[in-house]
Amino acid sequence: MKILAIYGSPDKEGITATIVETILESVNKKHEIDRIYLYDKEFHDCIACDDAKAIHLEKFCIFDDWFREEIIPAINAADILIISSPVYMGQITGKLKTMFDRWHTYIGPDFNIRILPGKKYIAVTACAAPADMFKSVSEYLDGWLSRFFKMEKIDVLHVGDMTDRNALKPDNPVMLQAKETGKKI
Ligand SMILES: Cc1cc2nc3c(=O)[nH]c(=O)nc-3n(C[C@H](O)[C@H](O)[C@H](O)COP(=O)(O)O)c2cc1C
Repeated sequence: MKILAIYGSPDKEGITATIVETILESVNKKHEIDRIYLYDKEFHDCIACDDAKAIHLEKFCIFDDWFREEIIPAINAADILIISSPVYMGQITGKLKTMFDRWHTYIGPDFNIRILPGKKYIAVTACAAPADMFKSVSEYLDGWLSRFFKMEKIDVLHVGDMTDRNALKPDNPVMLQAKETGKKI
C-alpha cells in the first residue's frame, strides 16, 4: 500500500512531525511511504473560479502549480493519508486549510465526492494548551475526512501541553499510541 504523509507544520522536527515519524517507524516495511511538507513550496489559494466543475473534472484545477502537479497525483495514488497539523490560532495551519480549499476539486457534480472515498486516514494534531481546549481541531479534521470525504479512519491522535519541541517525551501516551497506530497499517 502507498502511504502519503502530509505535514501541515512548518517545523519538520516539531511535535506533529515527530508523532508522524513515530507512526511511520512502526509501519510494516513492505509499504511505500511518500512525504509532502506543505511549507516547502508555495501554492495558490482557491479562487472559486466560475468553471470549477468542468475544469476540475478535466484537469483538477485552473492553477498549474505544485498542488496540481505533485500534491494531487500523490493524494490520488495513496491508499492511506496521514494528515498532521499543529493548532494555529484555534485551527489547523493556514497551509493545510489552503490545501483543503483546493480539495474542492474532489467535489463532483451533485456533491458526489470522487477519488477520496474509501482511502484511509490518520489525523495528528498538537497544541500548547491543555489537550481538551483544542480537541475541536482534532474533531474537525476527523469529521471532515470521514463524514464529508467518506474516508476510513485508522486513528486520530491529539496531544496538548506541547509548548516547545522538548515537551514531547518518549513516554507520552500519544507516542505510545503512535507506535500502535503504525502497527494497524
Ligand atoms: C502561529 C502560532 C499559533 C499558535 N496557536 C495556538 C493556539 O491557538 N492554541 C494552542 O494551544 N497552541 C497554539 N500554538 C502552539 C502550537 O500549536 C504547539 O506548539 C504545537 O505543539 C506545535 O506543533 P509543531 O511542533 O508540530 O509545529 C501556536 C503556535 C504558533 C507558532
